[in-house]
Amino acid sequence: MPLRKKLIAGNWKMHKTPAEGARLAAEIVAAVGKEPAVDIVLCPPYTALESVGRAIDGQEVRLGAQNMHPEKNGAFTGECSAEMLRALYVTHVILGHSERRAYFVETDDFINRKVLAALPNQLKPILCVGETLAEREAGQTFAVVQQQVEGGLKGVTAEQITTVIIAYEPVWAIGTGKVATPAQAQEVHAFIRGILAKLYGAARAQKVRILYGGSMKPANAAELLAQPDIDGGLIGGAALDARSFVDLVNAAVAAQ
Ligand code: PGA
Repeated sequence: MPLRKKLIAGNWKMHKTPAEGARLAAEIVAAVGKEPAVDIVLCPPYTALESVGRAIDGQEVRLGAQNMHPEKNGAFTGECSAEMLRALYVTHVILGHSERRAYFVETDDFINRKVLAALPNQLKPILCVGETLAEREAGQTFAVVQQQVEGGLKGVTAEQITTVIIAYEPVWAIGTGKVATPAQAQEVHAFIRGILAKLYGAARAQKVRILYGGSMKPANAAELLAQPDIDGGLIGGAALDARSFVDLVNAAVAAQ
């Protein structure tokens, strides 16, 4: 048994109606079989959670949401709580995606509140971190990533940390076709694991999965997934097509 089972998560972003989502999920389920050797999570938009949930019912594929509000309920127009997601059998939730940070002005403090609300509701956070091109060129990659990791995890206990998943997604690589080199990605993944070791001890840090995201495709996945600290992928564009998503799952199985 490897220390960390690889995980491939599809971030569908604002794509797929309920019917389209159910079709894509059914194709994926049929192709990966009953007992895939890696963890698989599909994250459709809120409106397709129920239909996708039905399509993967009884299978070894999990359901994730792309966002969540930290409060239990209340006057927060347009938002969904952890409890509401759980009621749809959601098990994972992407938090702090760079698109939410950039377009919806989410701060580390707000993202941290979501992480702290997800955990007691049995939702595994996929906490996204990553620098912009300007930050990388200014030599700020490590400082930015450190602030986002530490800020997002404030108050997360040593018991909880092994259920958290971190996704390193350099903003300049998302949806651009410009993938980080395996060495660039590994360097930051190892840095993140170092932060986790400082916060929670080396043994626990070894159990936390750190995914890479940003233009990951079947053609570049094997090299990335072969890196010692890359434990899977958070896939955008290539998750919208069953063939390429399943190829990524197979690449993760081969790298496991
Ligand atoms: P991409 O998106 O694979 O399309 O670059 C990844 C993400 O934003 O999670």
